[in-house]
Amino acid sequence: MDTRPSIVLGIESSCDETAVALVSTDRTILAERIASQEAEHAPYGGVVPEIAARAHAERLAPMIEAVLADADMTLDDVDAIAATAGPGLIGGVMVGLVSAKALAMASETPLLAINHLEGHALSPRLADAGLAFPYLLLLVSGGHCQILKVEGVGRYRRLATTIDDALGEAFDKTAKLLGLGYPGGPAVERLALEGNPSAVPLPRPMKGSKEPHFSFAGLKSAVLRAVESGEHTPADIAASFQQAAIECLTDRLEHAVSFVGSTPTLVVAGGVAANQQIRGALEQFAAEHEMRFSAPPLALCTDNAAMIAWAGCERLPLGDTAPLDFKARPRWPLDSEAERVRGAGVKA
Ligand code: KG4
Ligand code: ZN
Repeated sequence: MDTRPSIVLGIESSCDETAVALVSTDRTILAERIASQEAEHAPYGGVVPEIAARAHAERLAPMIEAVLADADMTLDDVDAIAATAGPGLIGGVMVGLVSAKALAMASETPLLAINHLEGHALSPRLADAGLAFPYLLLLVSGGHCQILKVEGVGRYRRLATTIDDALGEAFDKTAKLLGLGYPGGPAVERLALEGNPSAVPLPRPMKGSKEPHFSFAGLKSAVLRAVESGEHTPADIAASFQQAAIECLTDRLEHAVSFVGSTPTLVVAGGVAANQQIRGALEQFAAEHEMRFSAPPLALCTDNAAMIAWAGCERLPLGDTAPLDFKARPRWPLDSEAERVRGAGVKA
């Protein structure tokens, strides 16, 4: 029997990062490259879909070539091609998916059409070999804020989502209001270090609610009022915003645990999981609930291709390959049975 690990080439192009990685089923990242489009989108204060799609189209092919060269490999060494097939900005998704189809055809290897959210959801297992199913997952990114029970590959039960903004979006808007630029999460986190988290009275939307969901629109408006009042320093506003966000997260997790019972592990993933204060608060929450805590390294939290290749590694042994006419999906919920909630975003 061939016990050699399989090697998957992963492509990510659903938002403003063009990324390519080679990952093996034994959890090794053989090579990876990522190019951010921050500079292209910065003048507009957010991601412009048409500009994103064009940038992916220009960068992807040379990047695939470079990643193979970095690993000293050719397409002959690759066992499958995985690409984000949604959800996300459809032009960019199509660039990545069509490239993956061409590579799969040329190399006569299977195509794996990956849900970007599944990439985030399984990313902790790439870094943490001991992370077994089931686990409770807080998925917090620029387009999503969800609590999921991850029961296995392809088996996701959504317990909560946001009824308006995602948490990453709230960080980005707060950064914009404070004049910190885009993307805002890391900038707000840095400034918050210098501020007093209890200086500005801000709401904790949904705290204590019987509903399971999140809401951040009211918090964002309160930040706007605090900025306009001129009574607070930007650092105090950043720190108080972050503190309010943390209390919303732990309150909603408390609600989820009280409904599904605790799982052996609490996991956080997605771009906002890069935030050290949030990681610390979640680690404490896990300890209080006698759960293990697992969070991927920072580079695996924000959008990257290693997580897409890894989701491919998880799916390949299940024979879960995609046909060459697989359609890119602008919307693609992880839990298709979950009730659609007003305002939940389509961006990943
Ligand atoms: O997962 P991701 O890279 O892209 C999406 O799929 O959305 O997440 C990007 C989001 C942005 O909103 C960004 O501001 C936020 O993650 N983010 C952070 C931090 N780093 C990135 N938010 C808070 N603190 C951070 N350190
Ligand atoms: Zn993402």
